[in-house]
Amino acid sequence: MKFVEKRNGLYFPTKEMKKIALISNKKIYKEARENPIKFWEEQARQIVWFKPWEKVYLEEPPYFRWFVGGKLNISYNCLDRHLKDKKDKIALIWEPEPLEEKPRAFTYYELYKQVNKLANALKKLGIKKGDVVGIYLPMIPETLISMLACARIGAVHTVIFSAFSPEALRTRLQVSEAKFLITADGYYRRGKIINLKQNADEGIKETKVEKVIVVKRAGNEISWNNEKDVWYEDLTKNESDECKPEEMDSEDLLFILFTSGTSGTPKGILHTCGGYTVQAYLTGKWIFDFHEKDVLWCTSDFGWITGHSYTCYSPLLNGITTLIFEGAPDYPTPDRWAQIIEKHKVTIFYTAPTAIRMFERMNGNIAKKYEFKTLRLLGSVGEVLDEASWLWYFKNVGKERCPIVDTWWQTETGGILISSLPGIGPFKPGFVGLPFPGVKAEILDEEGKKCEKGKQGNLVVLPPFPPGLLRGIYKDEKKYLETYWSKYGNKIYFTSDAAFKDENGLIRIVGRVDDVIKVAGHRLSTGEIENALNSHEGVVESAVVGVPDEIKGEVPLAFVTLKPGFLVSEKLEEELKEIVSKKISPIAKPAKIIFIEDLPKTRSGKIMRRVLKKILLKEELGDLTTLANPESIEKIKKVLGL
Ligand code: WTA
Repeated sequence: MKFVEKRNGLYFPTKEMKKIALISNKKIYKEARENPIKFWEEQARQIVWFKPWEKVYLEEPPYFRWFVGGKLNISYNCLDRHLKDKKDKIALIWEPEPLEEKPRAFTYYELYKQVNKLANALKKLGIKKGDVVGIYLPMIPETLISMLACARIGAVHTVIFSAFSPEALRTRLQVSEAKFLITADGYYRRGKIINLKQNADEGIKETKVEKVIVVKRAGNEISWNNEKDVWYEDLTKNESDECKPEEMDSEDLLFILFTSGTSGTPKGILHTCGGYTVQAYLTGKWIFDFHEKDVLWCTSDFGWITGHSYTCYSPLLNGITTLIFEGAPDYPTPDRWAQIIEKHKVTIFYTAPTAIRMFERMNGNIAKKYEFKTLRLLGSVGEVLDEASWLWYFKNVGKERCPIVDTWWQTETGGILISSLPGIGPFKPGFVGLPFPGVKAEILDEEGKKCEKGKQGNLVVLPPFPPGLLRGIYKDEKKYLETYWSKYGNKIYFTSDAAFKDENGLIRIVGRVDDVIKVAGHRLSTGEIENALNSHEGVVESAVVGVPDEIKGEVPLAFVTLKPGFLVSEKLEEELKEIVSKKISPIAKPAKIIFIEDLPKTRSGKIMRRVLKKILLKEELGDLTTLANPESIEKIKKVLGL
């Protein structure tokens, strides 16, 4: 069946699509706009609440609360509520990396039992409501089970991406003061076993972690500390598979997820139970148009917000099947991702532009060799999906049948805020579409005036703030106020993204205006990379900028000044790249290190990364009068051979 057709250069849902889509009437936008609070209140009734709210929305800018006084549990909504009619339905499919290993599937009932067993075990270990539990696990079922088990007993999970280094893990455990960590012995990545336990052992040093729960995944040899370590299996095997869910207040903390900001230290973004649940539920339902038989493959790792909201919570809240894959999409053969879609009859494929560009550039256009008959909807997230990649994705993966929802959102927003709806459209290559019903997004100029159509400005979100928007930064109120609520005052949420609208009001995202870069869809802070580089004994200071890359979208490039006595060499360049890899993750490694004498700075000593970027991109440098050392520019150009 064809779900989409082209009209006047735009793409619209076909009649057939409109018929099956959950939302196909434009009037939903108008209704929601007229009374957004009422809109969210009505939608929130689709969630099971143990106790209804007393007040829907309260605002004391820049603070706000949703469903005040309401009590619920997200794990109850993901599991228990489906036991009546979906007990034997597959909730989760896991595809391991090794081809010789069989996939595992869990019905809703099995998942329910596994979650309860772990929840009971966690309680026995002494974990209580409000305690922070670190989850440092790869893409295996136990990761999702751990998240749900924490949520069930009211423990706050903080998932740390398994490819983060021990040092990156340590910082996050220190800041969140986690007392417990769930990890694994190892996992498969490109045919090799990664010893995750070793990283975890290293990472928990100088933290408050008292107990480490270890999932046996790869069977690799690991070191063991009898006082701290306990096997997941031993812990759970004799536990009861019934565990009463904790009644959580709508505004109780659900999870902390660390993300990169402008400064060198990661920020712990806070999400609460009620608002997050409603937003994750509804945005998934309407934007992916979830139907009973859907199998969603959201390729994001659980360690990122997309993995939280659309690999784990939203599909389960909606009672559909979610697929997770342990390995790399091009291993052992470049078409592994295509095989997985066919093998598991995926109907909705949600991935990042980096992956799309990688598939596009694979030898012999692999996508052409597959029919992808089961697919009916495609999604993209995390970076700008340029027009050429959009068209390639549409033609080769979607076979010109499937709509593409390009979804804009952030770790901070908890759920999607801007995207076309598949039963309404339009879908326009390069554009993310309209704000989701009930969401007020605008584009403002530097003075805070609305930008005319076509004019680029800053993307902001206006009150009433979406239910899933962050409630704070863990133990850092100052940063919360500064980052989001200072640019335009405390009634306007500043996204740090530049964007513009076309003549129909469809939004196009241009990219970040701060020092955050997106490398292969992963959010990294240039400041954090600089801190890692500066820790090398030979480095005086450094400046990291993101430069365009054909596949990864952006890659970090570092300018470094050296102390006397340290000579520029390939070995030193390697050492510096390694230090970033070790302190943060291999994904943050600079593509190149450029050694220079002096960094361009303002008179107040601020490094002008913007100028460095312009030099690299051979753009007009503009006004340089604020520079304290304008002569540095010519010297840098010389080093670069410009
Ligand atoms: C960028 C990811 C263009 C944006 C969910 C945002 C996008 C940052 C899109 C947040 C999109 C996200 N098109 N850019 N569809 N979606 N971004 O916190 O710059 O990892 O501010 O959340 O990704 O990244 P984060």
